[in-house]
Amino acid sequence: MTIRIFSHPFNFPVVRRQLYRNIKTSKPLSLLNQIELAPPDKILGLTETFNNDQNPNKVNLTVGIYKDNFGKVTTFPSISKAQKLIDRELGLNKNLSYLPIKGGKDYAENVKNFLYDESCSSSDTTKNYGKDLLDNNRISFAQTLSGTGALAISAKFLSLFISKKVWIPNFSWANHMNIFNKNGFKSIYNYSYYDLKSGQLTVDKWLSDLRERVGQDKSDEPHCIILHACCHNPTGLDPTKDDWDKIINTINELRMVPVIDMAYQGLESGDLLKDAYVLRKCIDPKYVWDNGLFLCQSFAKNMGLYGERVGSLSIVSPAHSPSTVKLAVDSQLKRIIRSIYSSPPGYGSRVANLVLSDPALKSQWFKDVHGMVNRLQSIRDKLSYNLEWDTVNDEQQHGMFYFTRFSLPVVQELRDKYSIYLTDDGRLSLSGVNDSDIEYVCDTFRKIEQLSK
Ligand code: LMR
Repeated sequence: MTIRIFSHPFNFPVVRRQLYRNIKTSKPLSLLNQIELAPPDKILGLTETFNNDQNPNKVNLTVGIYKDNFGKVTTFPSISKAQKLIDRELGLNKNLSYLPIKGGKDYAENVKNFLYDESCSSSDTTKNYGKDLLDNNRISFAQTLSGTGALAISAKFLSLFISKKVWIPNFSWANHMNIFNKNGFKSIYNYSYYDLKSGQLTVDKWLSDLRERVGQDKSDEPHCIILHACCHNPTGLDPTKDDWDKIINTINELRMVPVIDMAYQGLESGDLLKDAYVLRKCIDPKYVWDNGLFLCQSFAKNMGLYGERVGSLSIVSPAHSPSTVKLAVDSQLKRIIRSIYSSPPGYGSRVANLVLSDPALKSQWFKDVHGMVNRLQSIRDKLSYNLEWDTVNDEQQHGMFYFTRFSLPVVQELRDKYSIYLTDDGRLSLSGVNDSDIEYVCDTFRKIEQLSK
């Protein structure tokens, strides 16, 4: 039997929780009816609002997608060629069977070679340590649904077997918190990354935060830490190489578990290989990561394969682990993946695999990435010239975004009054600015900066 309580008109969700209770057990009859509305996604949710905006001058500067000067999402020449080959000449799409749980074998070989051999042989390291990892079979690898998929599988794996504590920079990609929160993490902390007032990175504060809080934690559960490998999202500001050396030394001393989020390889310098500095540095054998090193990597941005969801997760086990450990890690990864989406999608990984394995396509891809980075830099330059923006951090600004430091009310006004869409934190996706909207964007920013002074 149920009793019905009349809802209070001014506090409906609160009162609703008491409705429809079973009188005997006092348990609510419908838990489903009590689910509260989740907030819209902080990045992708804005595109929905943008699409409904009727203003003909509207400008979408939210999501990190590379667009050309005509506002079109670009398909790189290397990718178009690979697509044609796959369809017409190689017939690779004829077999639409399932891929293995951890993805295709060729894809794994080619991506691992790209990441751990090519990207790890650079003049800034004395030896190619990545090659040693490959030769010694220390990398558990899975093809994932882009970087987000890699992070989610890492979070699930870590929370099941290693730790439920993670440090995320303040500021960070809005989805980091969501991913770790929804995948078993109980303690999510922020480290100081950026000072809004000065517009500078706060590396010393970051490290003192960690020394204080992690250093004093006496429990056996290690702390994980998210590191943006390059093109920090949202600020666009990266630590210098010297800073990285200090950072990696400290997190290693504190026995933390590095989770490297490498979503923008190539977009820092235009050189895909050069940009893997954090990975190269972390795999130096002088650092022993007792609980593994996690690399979450994506081809969404650097191959423009956004919707195809192509990326990878690698877990590097420490040199002291017996070979059975890698087998155990591989087997557990499979169980996790199988429980969520069974096996990864095929098409995008065929494209990426072909680009990585065909020398002509690969060299075209390297050129394509250069071209994208040059255009992003020219937009950054035009904006800072037109708006006389701060050039203090010129050397350290990279990637798809510019961090305007506009306050939330200003961002809202830009959206509501002028139909210029930035994310709530004031992040601006550079390639949304093009010849047809730059004047409108700059005029509006000038106007709004005057008003908010
Ligand atoms: C972004 O930050 O805009 C991109 O990484 C897209 C996304 O999935 O949020």
